[in-house]
Amino acid sequence: MGSQEAASIPFQTVLTNQNAVFLGFLAVGGPPVGRASRLKMEFRDSLSGPLIHPSVCLYHDLRLFPDGGLLRRRTIGGLVGNHTGLYVNDKQKESFSGGCLERQDNGGGTRQFWSDEEVMAMAKQVQFGVMGAGGIARRRTIPGMLKARNCRLVAVMDPVGVEEIAVQFGVSRCYRTERELLQDSEVQAVYIASPVAFHARQIIMAAEAGKHILCEKPLTRTLAEAKKAVAACRRNGVFLQEGYMMKFHGAHRRIKELMDQGRIGKPVYLRAQLSCWYPPIPGAWRQDPKTGGGGALIDMATHLYDLLEYFVGPIRRVAAMVGRLVQDYRSEDASTTLVEFQCGAHGTIDCFYCIPDEASRTRLEIYGSAGAILTEGTIGQSTGGLLEAYFADQGTGYNALQSKDVQRKFQRLSFPKINPYTAECDYFAQCILQGRPPEINGPENALHILELTEKAYASYRQKKILSV
Ligand SMILES: NC(=O)c1ccc[n+]([C@@H]2O[C@H](COP(=O)([O-])OP(=O)(O)OC[C@H]3O[C@@H](n4cnc5c(N)ncnc54)[C@H](O)[C@@H]3O)[C@@H](O)[C@H]2O)c1
Repeated sequence: MGSQEAASIPFQTVLTNQNAVFLGFLAVGGPPVGRASRLKMEFRDSLSGPLIHPSVCLYHDLRLFPDGGLLRRRTIGGLVGNHTGLYVNDKQKESFSGGCLERQDNGGGTRQFWSDEEVMAMAKQVQFGVMGAGGIARRRTIPGMLKARNCRLVAVMDPVGVEEIAVQFGVSRCYRTERELLQDSEVQAVYIASPVAFHARQIIMAAEAGKHILCEKPLTRTLAEAKKAVAACRRNGVFLQEGYMMKFHGAHRRIKELMDQGRIGKPVYLRAQLSCWYPPIPGAWRQDPKTGGGGALIDMATHLYDLLEYFVGPIRRVAAMVGRLVQDYRSEDASTTLVEFQCGAHGTIDCFYCIPDEASRTRLEIYGSAGAILTEGTIGQSTGGLLEAYFADQGTGYNALQSKDVQRKFQRLSFPKINPYTAECDYFAQCILQGRPPEINGPENALHILELTEKAYASYRQKKILSV
């Protein structure tokens, strides 16, 4: 094809989801496509005149993903191809179905790079940008997100070393400032994993830019900040989900099913543990309550408040002890929380920054009137761990001997190996694609957990058990 020659490529795929119809077509590649190769689209037969400016769509509900004149560039098997398509509403689809794409190519032959299935799969993806891509994002969430069927990472932002992160994950666009990321029209949703002190401002900025937001825990340092952030999301009609990803762990999902089936009877006591060795590090934001909102309690115990509530329902009363036992910094390195759930069960949550990593088995223990469920290594960032349970299916007769050295009756239980980071991204993307607000880890839960957190700290100061 000569440089000024145009090829007409009819639409090949029409696919519908709740919000929009995706009209896709297979792009015809050739040499690496760049700015010299421009797309021109016209819908000639049913609508008056061209609707779309070459390369950039500005029309009403149309949503294109331009990248310097092309909608998308991607390398597959060493070939560079481009994927194109547009979202239209149902009514527009009627008009557009007879349209075609006209592409002016800069020469070099034609080749198809995308199968129909690929086009359809990409139409079902949400395009993410990451804000704060260097810590947990780089270690866990981005690798997890890249495995999610419905997420596509298009940009990363971090004030430090972002170019290296972009290369690591094969992302073509990287930014040093929030504003640049939020101005990127290809970004539909942001994942915020910056230090907590920046969350409130960044959520508000992202909401005002019309981006959906998956934000790391804790949502903000305080309940007051969180209320402003949530209000901004509601005002701007964007979805907000918080990163309490442990609920997505396969073992925890299995436990939830067992609890809902009443397999251990009435829940009476739950214990959850998460500790680590976190020595003083100059400038570490978690080590100063001004930047972290607190220490071991807000950073780690909140994960477990959330997880235990997932199993047995809301906490109604709380009392915490916090302290600085070992580490020399301003945030607490020790926290033990005593809780009472609305169902009546008691619980303790112990989280320390001053226990060697290998000394803590991150135990989860759930006891009921008809059995118990225990895990090791499921709390934390892994997909694995050990899950065992004892079900007193035959009832529990009184035994005056109270023998505790009985043969162990616990059985190992299997569970699906689910990467919790992949699962949380997948869930959020699915909510966006289907236009339904997240029910798991949504704004109400975020506000509730922060209220509980503030009550826990207050209970220690006031030496009282407080109602939530
Ligand atoms: N869910 C989990 O498993 C998990 C685990 C660890 C941390 N977290 C949460 O993730 C968030 C980040 O924690 P972390 O351990 O990755 O911290 P970190 O300090 O290791 O990394 C934070 C990253 O943000 C960058 N950054 C600094 N200022 C920024 C700004 N203004 N805008 C954007 N990025 C900025 C830093 O350069 C760094 O790359 C916190 O909310 C934390 O509680 C969650």
